Amino acid sequence: MQTVDIHRRWLDFFADRGHTVVPSASLISDDPTLMFTIAGMVPFIPYLTGLVPAPYPRAVSVQKCLRTNDIEEVGVTARHGTFFQMCGNFSFGDYFKKEAIAYAWELLTTPEAQGGYGFEERDLWVTVYKDDDESFGYWKEISGLPDHRIQRMGMDSNYWSTGLPGPAGPCSEVFYDRGPAYGAEGGPAADEDRYVEIWNLVFTEYLRGEGVGNDFEILGDLPSKNIDTGMGLERVAFIKQGVENLYEIDQVRPVLDLAAELTGKRYGAVHEDDVRLRVIADHVRSSLMILGDGVTPSNEGRGYVLRRLMRRTVRALRLLGVQEAVFSPLFEASKAAMSAGYPELERDWSRIRQSAVAEEDAFLRTLASGTTILDLAVESTRKSQSAELGGDTAFLLHDTYGFPIDITMEMASEAGLTVDVDAFKKLMTEQRDRAKTDARSKKQILADMSVYSAFRAHGETHFTGYDELETDTSILGLIVDGHSVDRARQGDTAEVILPETTLYAEAGGQEADAGTIVGDGYELTVTDVQRPVAGLTSHRVIVTRGEVAVGQSARTVVDAQWRHGARQAHSGTHLVHAALREILGENAHQSGSYNKAGYLRLDFTWGQALSPATRSEVEEVANNAIRADYEVITREMALSDARELGAMALFGEKYGETVRVVDIGGPWSRELCAGTHVAHSSQIGLINLIGEASVGSSNRRIESLVGHDAFKEFAAERAIVNTLTSSLKTPREQLPDRISELMANLKAANKRIADFEAKALAGRIPTLLAEAGRVGDVLLVTDSLGDLGSVDELRHLVTQVRAQAGETATTVALAGVVSHKPVIIVATNAAAREAGHKAGVLARIAAQLMGGGGGGKDDLAQGGGADVSMIPAALDAIVSEIRG
Ligand code: ALA
Repeated sequence: MQTVDIHRRWLDFFADRGHTVVPSASLISDDPTLMFTIAGMVPFIPYLTGLVPAPYPRAVSVQKCLRTNDIEEVGVTARHGTFFQMCGNFSFGDYFKKEAIAYAWELLTTPEAQGGYGFEERDLWVTVYKDDDESFGYWKEISGLPDHRIQRMGMDSNYWSTGLPGPAGPCSEVFYDRGPAYGAEGGPAADEDRYVEIWNLVFTEYLRGEGVGNDFEILGDLPSKNIDTGMGLERVAFIKQGVENLYEIDQVRPVLDLAAELTGKRYGAVHEDDVRLRVIADHVRSSLMILGDGVTPSNEGRGYVLRRLMRRTVRALRLLGVQEAVFSPLFEASKAAMSAGYPELERDWSRIRQSAVAEEDAFLRTLASGTTILDLAVESTRKSQSAELGGDTAFLLHDTYGFPIDITMEMASEAGLTVDVDAFKKLMTEQRDRAKTDARSKKQILADMSVYSAFRAHGETHFTGYDELETDTSILGLIVDGHSVDRARQGDTAEVILPETTLYAEAGGQEADAGTIVGDGYELTVTDVQRPVAGLTSHRVIVTRGEVAVGQSARTVVDAQWRHGARQAHSGTHLVHAALREILGENAHQSGSYNKAGYLRLDFTWGQALSPATRSEVEEVANNAIRADYEVITREMALSDARELGAMALFGEKYGETVRVVDIGGPWSRELCAGTHVAHSSQIGLINLIGEASVGSSNRRIESLVGHDAFKEFAAERAIVNTLTSSLKTPREQLPDRISELMANLKAANKRIADFEAKALAGRIPTLLAEAGRVGDVLLVTDSLGDLGSVDELRHLVTQVRAQAGETATTVALAGVVSHKPVIIVATNAAAREAGHKAGVLARIAAQLMGGGGGGKDDLAQGGGADVSMIPAALDAIVSEIRG
C-alpha cells in the first residue's frame, strides 16, 4: 500500500463518520511556545483548551510534523524520523473514549478491499493508562482482545501532552507485533522494537501546568472532554509495505538509493554505512519540507534546526566519502517522492533548490575556513605538549562555523588528538540555559491567555475599518494587568475589547492604527492594537479623560492622517514586491515585511546583493506602477480560488477558508492580504528606496520611504547638493568629477608629503651612524626622532641604518612618537647577534619603562608604551642592558 493511499484511506474513513477534513497546517507552528508543529493536535490547541470555540465538533487531518529531540536515534532504530506525518482524528467535546477506540479498531482491522488497513487481530496489542479501567473495558468489549494483550502502563508512556503547559490526558496505544525475529515476547511492555507503536489515542481532558518529564501539576479539567489521536503514517507504511523501517518506504527510499549510488556504497552491507545512508534520506526529506514551508537556514530558531539537519547530511556524506556538492540531485529525488502528497513542492521547486544548494555551498566553504582554525588550534595544542584540543575551540567551531562536535572530534583524531568534550558540553549547557530563560518568558504568555477566552466565546471582533474610519459600538470588556475588570479610570493603562472596531490590529507586516476610543464622559488614547487570540482584537489604551465602564457605548476613531500613510506604505510594499519579482524572477519571494505611515521594509529570499543598477530599476518599476494609476481591487474568495488565480501567499501566515485578495494592476501584483490599501496606486505618491542589505545568507532587505516622507528625503538630498555646488563653486552635474579630482589631488599631495618626510629621515642616516657609540666591537645607534607619520616609517629607517652599517656588528634602537604614543624599533645584524644582542629582549626592556609592551624576533622587534617622557630613559636602559 503506497503512503498516499494510507493517507487517503484515513481521510475518507473519518470524513464518512462526520469529521471535517482539515488540511495540514504549516510546519511552522503559530503557537508561540512551539518552534515547529510536533503533533497533529498542535493546530487545534486553542480548541482543545477552549480558548477559541471549535468551528466543528470533530475533525480529521494528516499533519506534517517535525521533531528533532531524538535526532541521534535517526537511522539507528526503525521508527525515528525527524519529519513525519501524523494521521489524527479529533473530537472537541463530542465523542470520547468508547467511540475513539471503536473507530481505531474498525479502521485497522477492516480488510484492505473494504477501505481499511487490513491488520490481523493476532498482530495487535494495546496499552492503557494504569488505572484506566474504562478504556480497558472498551477494548475488551470492542476488540475481544484477551486480557494479557491489553497492558497497563504508567505515566511514562501512557500520559500525553506536548511537554508544555496546555492540554493533557491519559492515553491508550495500539502496537503491531513484528514477530519473534525482532525481539523478546511479552508485548510492548517488554520490547518496543519488536512491538511498534502505530497509533496513540489521547483522552484530552485536563490542563497541565509547568514541569519537566512526568513531573507537572494538573491545573484542572478542560471545559470539555476531547479526543486527540495520532497514527504514524510512516510506521503504518513500513509495515504495510513489508519493509524493515521507515527509511525504506516509497516516500523515502529513492533518496536512500540515490545516496548509495552517489557514495558508491551498497545499502545492507555495513551497519555504519546503512545508518549514514538513512540519516541522509531522513534529513534531506525533512529539510525539503521545512524549506517548502518557507524557512531559510540561519543561526537561530527554526533556521538553525534546518541548518543543523543540512549540516548533518553533509557530515554523513563526507563520512561516506563524498566531498563535493550533491544536494541538488538528492533534494530533487526527495521532491519527486513527496510531491504526490504535496504538489506545492513542484510549484516552489526552484526556490527550494536554490536555498538548499546555497546552504550546501556555504557549508562546504565554512568547512574549509573552519579547517584552518582547527589546524591552528591543533598546532598550538601540540606545541603546549597536550594531546587534548580545548573545549573552547570545539565550541567556537560549533558556534561560529557550525561544526557538529563529531566533525571536530573526527578531524582532531586525524591529527592524533582528542577533544575536551566535557568542557565543550559545559559551554553548550551555558548557552542553552541562556536560551531557556527566553523560552520561559514565552510560556508565561500562554498562561496569561485565558483571560481572553471568555471574550472570544462571544465571537470574532468585526473589523469595519476597510470602509470607514469611525464605528459606533460598545465596551465588551476591560482588562487591567491581565485581569478582567468593570471599569478603568483616568491615567490607567488598560486593554479594551469591542464587538467591532475600525482600528487595524498589527498583522501581515502592517503596524497597528493610531487613534482614539471615545464615549460619554471618557476618552481613550490607543497605543497598540493586537490580536492575542485568533479572531479577537485587543486595544491597548491609556485613559486620557474620565472613567470608562463595561457596557458603555463607544466610538472607535482612526487617526485619518496615520491611516492614509499606512495605506500608502502597505500598497507600496506590494508594488516593491511585484517589481522585485518582475526584475529578479519568481525566486524572489517575500519572507517578511513591516510597514507604517511613511516607511516600508521588505525581506525577500535572494542570495546576493542587488547592484545599484538593479536597485534603481526596482525603484523605477514601482514608481511607474504608481504613475499608471492602477485601481486597487480587493475581493473575498475561497482560499482555493485565490490560489487558482495565482495570488501570492506568505510563508508561515495562517489563512482561513475565506481570504482577501488584493490586486494592483491585475495579476501583476496579486496577493493574499488583510491589510488596508489605497484605492488607486497614484495615491501612494512616491517610492524612494533608501537601503538594501543582507539578512542572513539567503535573504535581502529593502527599505523605502513612501509618500510625503519619500519627498522630504529627496528635498534633504537636494539641500546637501546645493551646499556642495556653492562651496565647491561647481555646477551640480559636474560635482562627481570635481570631487574625484579633489580626492586625486589630495592623494597626490599626501604622497608627496610622505616622500619628503622619508627623504628627510634618510638624510639623517649618515649623522646617526657618525654619532653612534660603541660597546665592545658593536656599533650602537640610538636616538629619539620626535614626531613621525607612522610606525612603518620608523621601521623603514631602522632597517636602512642597519643596512648601511654593512658587515660591521651593529645594533640600532630608534624611538619616535606616533599619534602621541612612544614607539621604539630595535634591529640587529648578524654580527651583533653573534655578540649576544637580541632585538626582542631589548625592545621589551624599553617598552616596560614606557609603560607598555613589546617584543619580536632577535633581528627586529618593536616596543610601544603610553609615556612619551620616558623615551630617553628607555634608550638608556637599552644601552645599559648591552653594557651590563
Ligand atoms: N498527540 C498525540 C501524539 O502526538 C496523539 O502522540
